[in-house]
Amino acid sequence: MTIIAPSILSADFAKLGDEIAAIEQAGADWIHVDVMDGRFVPNLTFGPPIISAVRGATKLPFDVHLMIEQPERSIADYAAAGADRITVHLEACTHLHRTLHQIKDLGLPAGVALNPATPISLLEPVLEDVDLVLVMTVNPGFGGQSFIPYSLQKLRDLRSRLHERGLSGVSVQVDGGINPSTSALVREAGADVLVAGSYVFGHDSPAAAIAALR
Ligand code: DX5
Ligand code: ZN
Repeated sequence: MTIIAPSILSADFAKLGDEIAAIEQAGADWIHVDVMDGRFVPNLTFGPPIISAVRGATKLPFDVHLMIEQPERSIADYAAAGADRITVHLEACTHLHRTLHQIKDLGLPAGVALNPATPISLLEPVLEDVDLVLVMTVNPGFGGQSFIPYSLQKLRDLRSRLHERGLSGVSVQVDGGINPSTSALVREAGADVLVAGSYVFGHDSPAAAIAALR
């Protein structure tokens, strides 16, 4: 079953709680929360106070994507604010193995994200430690960018490495430039969790948009 996780980066921040409730009504499975610090990526979005402010707007899991430097310093704050799962960038972690276990020790599924130019092979030492791998299909920092086609080869490479290791239960997430045509491509290449921001929030019917991604 494909999980659809709309990214609230593309929501109307002036009514974020209502937007989240509407996306739940429209059939979303997870809420993808893009945290950006203006250093790891050029953009700056929101942190724990905003996440806890909208926590009550939905029962859906908050899938928190930390595009921040030194995530180990604030993982506990995101968990306390209401994150249901936390994903950190390999490129932002000096001690990735320790940071992943910091998330798991808080009782949350741990994800690792790779920027487009980062090879899947770098994940080999931690594949047994992750619950999810996020293969970025755009350069992180902004919504509305175009899908990077060689991500498909990375997805196939990841899926075969997981299969070889008996780790087919690890979720494979994609994020960036996802719409009905790229959705078909990434699902065929092995993705089972799809993040979409501009396609869902830019559609006149979010329910139709979510259905079209499955
Ligand atoms: C980009 C974020 C993505 C982005 C997706 O850094 O991680 O989640 O919001 O936006 P779209 O679906 O518009 O490419
Ligand atoms: Zn994201």
